[in-house]
Amino acid sequence: MPKFVVEFGKAGAPPAPDGRLEGPAFHRNHDAIWSAIAGFLSEQTGDVLELGSGTGQHAAAFARQAPNLTWWPSDIYPSHLASIEAWRQHARLANLRAPQRIDLADPEWTWTADGQAGAALTAMLCINVLHIAPWRVAQNLIAGAGRLLRDEGRLFVYGPFMRDGAHTAPSNAAFDASLRAENPDWGVRDVNDLNRLAQDAGLKAAEIVPMPANNLILAFARAVRQR
Ligand SMILES: C[S@@+](CC[C@H](N)C(=O)[O-])C[C@H]1O[C@@H](n2cnc3c(N)ncnc32)[C@H](O)[C@@H]1O
Repeated sequence: MPKFVVEFGKAGAPPAPDGRLEGPAFHRNHDAIWSAIAGFLSEQTGDVLELGSGTGQHAAAFARQAPNLTWWPSDIYPSHLASIEAWRQHARLANLRAPQRIDLADPEWTWTADGQAGAALTAMLCINVLHIAPWRVAQNLIAGAGRLLRDEGRLFVYGPFMRDGAHTAPSNAAFDASLRAENPDWGVRDVNDLNRLAQDAGLKAAEIVPMPANNLILAFARAVRQR
């Protein structure tokens, strides 16, 4: 199994006849991720925007767990957007909406709700994206949270991260080296660097939630309420 996946379905499991793709990491991480974000999300209503949704499996699983929230998945690849839509059809959930193409490499990115400009978001979720994309994707994700979250909203970012310039495990150091060998613009990001972006976007430094397999969830909230 490859250590990282750029585009699902290129290697590993082919799509189901209806286009649903399988992400092996989903089966390992979705329970832990939901446990970490449910404390906030299960008390909330409104819209959750997921960035880099991949196969769409997290969106389907989490929308099922949170009928009080409307879940908006997104990605950049046509094959992923087709898979997200196929998982959505399979899940038959009223609160799981059609995927939209959002490219975090675009500093002007925004989201729409049924073709209209989207309302302020209850939450944004981005799982295993920042290490497999250029730094500007992290910049644009966090700037977007500053623009698009509602006052009490949260940005949740899951993945491997460095802390204070150091890897949290030898396996993460090896993973980082393999990412950078594949593409020098990729790599495991440092929480301190992300906190600097958060500060520029009017967000507080991340609350850090340790996760299995040397991953973290970073939860960002607004530093100052807008009203
Ligand atoms: C390792 S996969 C993770 C997918 C999914 N979140 C998961 O955990 O299974 C990385 C995802 O980031 C998406 N991605 C890469 N560059 C992106 C960009 N510039 N904007 C939005 N998504 C991007 C890819 O299409 C892919 O779905």
